[in-house]
Amino acid sequence: MDNNKNSHDVQDDSKESAFYVDAAKYWEQVPPTVDGMLGGLSSISDIDLKGSQRFLNSIFQLISCPGKERALDGGAGIGRITKGFLMNNFAIVDLVEQDQQFLKEAEKSLASTNHRGQFFNIGLQKFTPELGVYDIIWVQWVLGHLTDEDLVRFLKRCRTGLKQNGLIVLKENLTSSGEVEMDHTDSSVTRPPSLMHELIQKADLRVIKEQKQQRFPSDLYEVRMFAIQPI
Ligand SMILES: C[S@@+](CC[C@H](N)C(=O)[O-])C[C@H]1O[C@@H](n2cnc3c(N)ncnc32)[C@H](O)[C@@H]1O
Repeated sequence: MDNNKNSHDVQDDSKESAFYVDAAKYWEQVPPTVDGMLGGLSSISDIDLKGSQRFLNSIFQLISCPGKERALDGGAGIGRITKGFLMNNFAIVDLVEQDQQFLKEAEKSLASTNHRGQFFNIGLQKFTPELGVYDIIWVQWVLGHLTDEDLVRFLKRCRTGLKQNGLIVLKENLTSSGEVEMDHTDSSVTRPPSLMHELIQKADLRVIKEQKQQRFPSDLYEVRMFAIQPI
């Protein structure tokens, strides 16, 4: 038995769980508002949702385009994306979010709408979607909270949740330095585009469309949308 290796693994495991625990603690003290979701930048929410709608429209133009029955909002927070965009396109939208307070707020604010869908209070690193039910799995501004390994495993599980012609959309901040940048305040990482591509490939998925979000303030990280499908 290699004692050194084992003690190294234990250290890695506890570092990894600290990464998730610290993020959960950070989000616990964030108010359940659009401003809270966007780090004080609620002013960009409309531009973001419009950019997402345009991207989705272009996906619906594809020859083998996804259906419009059921979507999943991954890392949904208070349901900003479900309410402001996904519900306008899909009959059913399920939400998955690790923070109970945010999910309760989402349930409350969606109760007075014609929203249909389920609420899952669990981290994406543990979540497994139902088999073959989703036309779109939309995952935005949350993947920096997963380790590379969990991100690949999560994407692999998402593949099994897709219907025929279904696809996953990732919308995330990206670094331009070519490096992974760690944010110790909210316990997240921001990845360079090359790493995003590598992780997508490792999950046996391929990018069929990629687009930069336009009209965001220039001092923010670049934000890109990736539409990805099983190889
Ligand atoms: C920047 S907010 C974005 C929320 C939403 N996607 C939006 O754009 O309005 C990040 C969200 O990810 C959630 N989150 C953080 N770590 C997570 C994890 N491991 N699994 C699921 N959700 C997570 C936070 O609780 C928070 O609601």
